Amino acid sequence: MLDRYTAKICCADLYASELARLILGDSLHPGGLRATNRLGRAMGLQAGWRVLDLACGMGASAAAVSRVFRCQVTGLELGAAAVAASRRRALAQPVPSNVAFVRGDAELPPFRDGAFDAVIIECATSLFGDKPAAIAGVRRLLRPGGVIGLSDITVEPGSLPPELDGTMGMMLCLTDALPSLGYQRLLEDAGFAVAERENLSGEALSLLAELRGKLALWQSFGGSAAAADLAAAPDLLGRVAELVAQGEIGYWLYAGKKLD
Ligand SMILES: C[S@@+](CC[C@H](N)C(=O)[O-])C[C@H]1O[C@@H](n2cnc3c(N)ncnc32)[C@H](O)[C@@H]1O
Repeated sequence: MLDRYTAKICCADLYASELARLILGDSLHPGGLRATNRLGRAMGLQAGWRVLDLACGMGASAAAVSRVFRCQVTGLELGAAAVAASRRRALAQPVPSNVAFVRGDAELPPFRDGAFDAVIIECATSLFGDKPAAIAGVRRLLRPGGVIGLSDITVEPGSLPPELDGTMGMMLCLTDALPSLGYQRLLEDAGFAVAERENLSGEALSLLAELRGKLALWQSFGGSAAAADLAAAPDLLGRVAELVAQGEIGYWLYAGKKLD
């Protein structure tokens, strides 16, 4: 049994692995940057705001928010390889973007209270071990009246079949995901007024179809090493798609404001 910190690092390495990059690309959530822009609009992001992208993965959303909304963005991520790749990519941009990447644990963020105007968390809350403590931490990082934007995979109670409770379930953020109302309660209980809530499950269906296509192609070329582990993946992804179509699994977006 892995201790909690080692398990987090393994999870981070999994997302930064070559295979995950090949299959998922750099934007590690359904809807990609389209969903990130939707989240930014729902939050009312303003030019010049200090924005934290918590558990920013490969840094794609952080870079996009700095460009599209002209915000000053900090990405915090546990995976060392992901942070290094995000920094390299930011430096290689022809026009310097207003973005910085820090390695650290989103559940113990290394920033002072009130340091940010806005915090975004895409497809990562489901991975946090102590979700109420993590969202309470986000509240402390926000200035009075600051905003939070959260999007994540949702799983309705009792609907995750055992075959999806392994590596694939973890990669798809299913294992510890909350129901759609669960994230809203999590935010409200931490002292946020939820102003917008939107069902983006259609984006999850599109991503699943895309993943199945990429996996099939990769396997048809004899995709090596991890192939044995992934033999069952197309069937598992098909099962997830069925559950999304039935409304048991979804992808939701929430935007809220810190209450006094
Ligand atoms: C599904 S990916 C989403 C990445 C990014 N937010 C995006 O949407 O592209 C989840 C990310 O959360 C990171 N992560 C999970 N737990 C974390 C923690 N406690 N602190 C920092 N990063 C964490 C993982 O390493 C991974 O990069």
